[in-house]
Amino acid sequence: MKMSESPEHNRLPTRALIALALLILPAFEQSCAKAADEPATVWLSSLDLSRMTSGWGRPRVDKSVQDRTMSIAGRKFERGVGTHADSIMYIDLKGGSTRFTAHVGVDDEINGNIGSIEFKIYGDKRLLWQSGVIKAGEPAKKVDVDLAGLKALILMVGSAGDGISYDHADWAEAKFEVTGEKPVALEAPVEEAVILTPKPSPKPRINGARVFGVRPGSPFLFTVAATGERPMEFSAEGLPVGLTLDSKTGRITGSLSRRGQYQVILRAVNALGAVERDFRIVVGDRLALTPPMGWNSWYCFFSSVTDKMMRDAADAMVQTGMINHGYTYVNIDDGWMVKPGSDDPVLGGPVTNSEGQINANGKFPDMKAMTDYIHGKGLKAGLYTSPGPTTCAGFAGSYGHEEQDARRFAEWGFDFLKYDWCSYRRIAKDRSRAELMKPYLVMKAALDKQDRDFIYNLCQYGMGNVWEWGAEVGGHCWRTTGDLGIASSLYRNVINYGFFHAGKEQYAGPGHWNDPDYLLIGHIGWRGSLRPTPLTPNEQYTHVSLWCLLAAPLIFSGDMTKLDEFTLSLLTNDEVIEIDQDPLGRQASRVAQAGETQVWAKDMEDGSKAVGLFNTGEFETKVAARWSDLGVRGKQRVRDLWRQKDIGIFEKEFETDVPRHGVVLVRLFPTRAVAPPAR
Ligand code: GLA
Repeated sequence: MKMSESPEHNRLPTRALIALALLILPAFEQSCAKAADEPATVWLSSLDLSRMTSGWGRPRVDKSVQDRTMSIAGRKFERGVGTHADSIMYIDLKGGSTRFTAHVGVDDEINGNIGSIEFKIYGDKRLLWQSGVIKAGEPAKKVDVDLAGLKALILMVGSAGDGISYDHADWAEAKFEVTGEKPVALEAPVEEAVILTPKPSPKPRINGARVFGVRPGSPFLFTVAATGERPMEFSAEGLPVGLTLDSKTGRITGSLSRRGQYQVILRAVNALGAVERDFRIVVGDRLALTPPMGWNSWYCFFSSVTDKMMRDAADAMVQTGMINHGYTYVNIDDGWMVKPGSDDPVLGGPVTNSEGQINANGKFPDMKAMTDYIHGKGLKAGLYTSPGPTTCAGFAGSYGHEEQDARRFAEWGFDFLKYDWCSYRRIAKDRSRAELMKPYLVMKAALDKQDRDFIYNLCQYGMGNVWEWGAEVGGHCWRTTGDLGIASSLYRNVINYGFFHAGKEQYAGPGHWNDPDYLLIGHIGWRGSLRPTPLTPNEQYTHVSLWCLLAAPLIFSGDMTKLDEFTLSLLTNDEVIEIDQDPLGRQASRVAQAGETQVWAKDMEDGSKAVGLFNTGEFETKVAARWSDLGVRGKQRVRDLWRQKDIGIFEKEFETDVPRHGVVLVRLFPTRAVAPPAR
């Protein structure tokens, strides 16, 4: 109803209200004056802490993150908020707060361990206060920030660049002086999930790896990844004797006995056109000549994974078209073996068979039938175990029967082994390099005896600088870091783990890759309570772009059966994947860093450069990729890889706005110098 339509009788109470207001106004003014004189105190701990993120554990009211009385360098605090880096909280000040005070530092509960953190406070997009790096044992720093006139506040704790271990952070005695409305904790800013990846053309396009390694005599399986309308007819020129290409499915099978390199031309034709692309087959001892691409069960099913889930994932890899972009491996993580001591009939039973080979539990009734199913789709199968007596989730490991297990994995038809560490810590004498290498050498020797190829993925979280010796023990890729995890602060792990690879580029290359863990987008979480990734859309673009620049294995670990359009668009942008799969196999280097922006660049085989302009800050900002930092000269054609569109020709630098926690991923192609027009 419009105001003008208001019936007459509604006006009477309004008059009465005005009269009443006139009566009470003096008293109200008096109380306001009193409030202005004596601001009220609002404790940070009284705000909704479910809206504060924490890199480990959860934020606590008036306690440390481990639920103890807060203590910084021996000084105890009764009130405040205990959290853990990386942590962030967005607060709407409602215009009523005038001051924020606190004492901040690393909580003493970490007991002599090394933790270092940095606190930052932003008000209306301006950095108001920063602590600098505070280490464990250092006295609390006093915070006193004027909030007058500010609308929004952000409280942050960062890991000060050295990982989040033992970063227990206290906002002790943290409180607001409030003269008006109380501050309120907000949800993190919501972003629209904008799909940048264009839909693949209906014309044929060949994607995925351009080079493929195989050992002499091993079964060969390579599915030509191609987008475009079906039916499509595949053919190849120069395919060595021993291999055949199925013209309908694009699957190349057979085996090759002679070592050497074979240069092949692959062709794909449909009603709308034809395309061809070079493909190199290298027969020798080297595998994984480009980073492995696929899916792993861990972050959506954890140890409750079943045979059916694996088959469903394989089905989905075909149905969603991921196979047409180069995704190949369908890998079971922990939870397929017997669980020693379990009285659950599905999980219990003898750990090994009569030949001493490891048994699968009741959730995997027929491993061979399962891998046949996966292979039947043109995909490959992987599995996980640990060199210790038990795996991280308490299932049987391979300790003492590595040889038998490798034989069984081959008989079952697997193509990929992720080899963890976990309970092997009880076996290793110490943490010397020799002891760290030992279990991986044992399993490698056992795998090498098999008549099929295994991609060997070491998973010991970077201990002993694994990147320095992972290739020496035969690893094709090695986890360089801890688990990314599914905490609300996942974004910080993504960038901390990703950027941790600065300076490690020399260790990555064809056949041996640094592995910062899986792609945690889409639906992840425990079975039955899968939830969307905590990453915002821009953070997801950052995650995938960074992994591609790092030439990391592209292993998605969300639920394959719940792939939404946005997630699929992130996983299937062929120009972005091309950065990861480039045959030169370079890992990107950090070429520039300023404040909360970084520029990373990767040399490509064709002489172009892939460049990621990252903004890890809270607000959109400009980032420039300067030719002098990139080591390029002259005019460059700059192409936006997510949008698959040229942006223009640039001479000395390319500068662009990069959103909060976002990235702009481009490729620079040198343009030939054009002679000036004749006069
Ligand atoms: C470790 C690994 C994870 C996963 C689990 C399984 O934590 O780092 O990737 O394999 O073990 O228990």
